[in-house]
Amino acid sequence: MRILFGWTNKKKQPAATKEERRAARQKLNSQPIAQVTPTPSARKGKTARKPSFLEKIGLLWAYDIGIDLGTANVLVYIKGKGIVLDEPGYVARDTKTKEVLAVGEEAKNMNGRTPEGIEVIRPLQEGVIADYDMTQFMLHYFISSVLPASTFIKPRVIICVPSAITPVERRAVLEASLQAGARKTVLIEESLAAALGVGLDKAGANAGAMIVDVGGGTTDIAVLSQTGIVVSESLHVGSDDFDAALAYYIRRKRKVLLGRNSAEELKIAVGTVDRKSSVREGTVRGRDLHTGLPKELIVTSTEVQRALEAPVQEIIEGIKGILEKTSPELLAQIADNGIILTGGGALIDGLDRLITRMTGIVSYLAENPRYSVVLGTGKALKEMNALQDTLEELYSVR
Ligand SMILES: Nc1ncnc2c1ncn2[C@@H]1O[C@H](COP(=O)(O)OP(=O)(O)O)[C@@H](O)[C@H]1O
Ligand SMILES: [Mg+2]
Repeated sequence: MRILFGWTNKKKQPAATKEERRAARQKLNSQPIAQVTPTPSARKGKTARKPSFLEKIGLLWAYDIGIDLGTANVLVYIKGKGIVLDEPGYVARDTKTKEVLAVGEEAKNMNGRTPEGIEVIRPLQEGVIADYDMTQFMLHYFISSVLPASTFIKPRVIICVPSAITPVERRAVLEASLQAGARKTVLIEESLAAALGVGLDKAGANAGAMIVDVGGGTTDIAVLSQTGIVVSESLHVGSDDFDAALAYYIRRKRKVLLGRNSAEELKIAVGTVDRKSSVREGTVRGRDLHTGLPKELIVTSTEVQRALEAPVQEIIEGIKGILEKTSPELLAQIADNGIILTGGGALIDGLDRLITRMTGIVSYLAENPRYSVVLGTGKALKEMNALQDTLEELYSVR
């Protein structure tokens, strides 16, 4: 846990009593959140009070949950069980009544084929919370769906949020977790969770490394040392932009309109970002722009590579920019340890090779790129007792 807690403030925090916690929650709506400075949320606070006998018994059945609230997918980890949920972050609802009809995979499959009166939305887009109510609904829904109906002990939750979210959005996530029944919620930064997930906490003194997490809406680049994040940046470009760029290319060059899901499937099937990769072919169905009728197309990986050039270039430039800001000592360590790629978007063919060529530093995919972050929250759960409730922290920072 060295990387996660290396920089933490060692000052002892007195434990909040039940009443104080309740008061903090009640204050929630009256506080001007804009005054709150966002701080590293995983701050260490020692509990002065010993747990009561009942609390000790309760802890035996307690659930500790880690959540990766990504822009494309939501993953949930339960301590002792592993990853129990992996669903796309989509909600389908009635346009008029706003009644939710489907969540997750089911809602994503309705995308682009809904009858009139039903809309499919993604509450988190481009790394920000686009729809508060639906984010809260979705989080609540997913948390409740992994807990047994009979549990009466409230879970403790660690949520990894997109790094670019604002304090107001952080509060929305905390509220959702509270409403879903959490008795304590800790928000942690995506890059730290990814670092834990890929095992960087065990890297020792030469821990300097770069992590590039390519998500749906954002790419998060961070340089980590033994003491935590040294430099980081969240680019507003991610794997969803690859889909959009591919759909745009096919419309322009092949005069066929592709749905969002079809463009994503094509990207996953034959996508590459490396010009030197061997050529593959895939088929995709869309609407012919001239006739308005369905049309099946054969698309080559070379076409996909060309289509993705602009967003991929943005990611490469972002990585180079961060490397330029890194001290020579750390840069040497990064050169030794390499650039680690996490996130679903990193699975596209050739991204590791391209980054290696463009930066001169060996880049490689994490073992389970889609799971790195949620596995990192799982590791952080082991420190749950020592972590401070982020909600309380929001009120202790003035
Ligand atoms: N095998 C694959 N090849 C290319 N892209 C992939 C692959 N698997 C998933 N993706 C892309 O990864 C993105 C989602 O990554 P994820 O890490 O779950 O995002 P987030 O953390 O933002 O929720 C999607 O845009 C998806 O299309
Ligand atoms: Mg992610």
